[in-house]
Amino acid sequence: MPQFRWPLLPLSLFVISGGVWSCTSSSPPRAPATPPAVKALAPIPMPTPDDTTPKDYPGVHNVVAYHPGYLSGGQPEGDAGFETLAAMGIKTIISVDGAAPEVEKATARGMRYIHLPISYNGIGEERGLELTRATRDAMRVGPLYIHCHHGKHRSAGAAAMVCVHLGWSTPEQGVARMKVSGTSPNYTGLYACARRAALLDEKVIDAVPADFPEISKPTDFVQGMVDVDHAFEHLKEIEKAGWKTPESSPDLVPAAESGRLADLYRSLQETRYVKEEPVGLTELLRDAHAKAHALEEWLAAGEQDGVKLSAQFKLVAASCKDCHVKYRD
Ligand code: HEC
Repeated sequence: MPQFRWPLLPLSLFVISGGVWSCTSSSPPRAPATPPAVKALAPIPMPTPDDTTPKDYPGVHNVVAYHPGYLSGGQPEGDAGFETLAAMGIKTIISVDGAAPEVEKATARGMRYIHLPISYNGIGEERGLELTRATRDAMRVGPLYIHCHHGKHRSAGAAAMVCVHLGWSTPEQGVARMKVSGTSPNYTGLYACARRAALLDEKVIDAVPADFPEISKPTDFVQGMVDVDHAFEHLKEIEKAGWKTPESSPDLVPAAESGRLADLYRSLQETRYVKEEPVGLTELLRDAHAKAHALEEWLAAGEQDGVKLSAQFKLVAASCKDCHVKYRD
């Protein structure tokens, strides 16, 4: 007997008729074969683009709306974080952070994850287009949450840029939302992405391949170390220039280079190389991350005390040696 198949309807039809479909079932729904893994929370109202301060929720911090149903914030923490997002009605989560996202926690609650990491220095053209297409398509399905680690700098910059690309806000409005997120003015590349953004033609967005990964391939460990080394060399130059952008390298942003170093240490923990090593290597990476992150926080906050910054940078340099002695040399 031929099986009935659904005709291929455009997605938009389902979206428009979704409300009708969900409230016409006259018979009680059949019990699922297996009980749902997660108990749903009562709905949580979403923040709105009119809010003038970031909002905190259980397991989800620094949440700012950039457009109705389009939220930026910190990495969801534990089950509580993912439950909060599900209770807000989020359908898709985009991570722009380097570390691998917790995909299972999202899918268990009916949310899709997309992983498109960006740097603290700004967003390359291709990645900018990918983020725009991913956002446009995801928002046709339902509300979207975009996050980095703390939800202050990278996710804010990405959200502001995408809003301009999609015609949801002007560059000025995007920059104003970044200030609500608390993006440090020292991340000049991220602000530039929002300021220089322009409305994109639908055809340009349609031309972007839409096969977005749930987890971007973790950096290869040795390649990661080469990147660590670059960031470290840049920081040495920055230190020589009195913890400012060196005149000879005008594209080096102090907070961005230390942020990149910290982010590399976090994403390296996800590599197979590290997972197959004794736990000691992970611990040293965590420790190296904490030291680079402290430097990043000070630079992002505009710390001027060169002695304090150099003392912290010494700890960062010592963490290279500590680990190499044990695991490399
Ligand atoms: C937690 C451990 C750890 C920390 C911290 C660490 N490294 Fe490494 N690094 C390694 C290991 C292990 C290797 C060897 C990888 C291999 O070749 O298999 C390595 C390799 C390297 C290499 C050689 C890469 C190549 O091309 O083969 C460079 C350069 C390097 N590290 C620089 C640095 C610098 C600079 C820092 C500090 C800013 C640093 N590393 C911090 C563990 C670490």
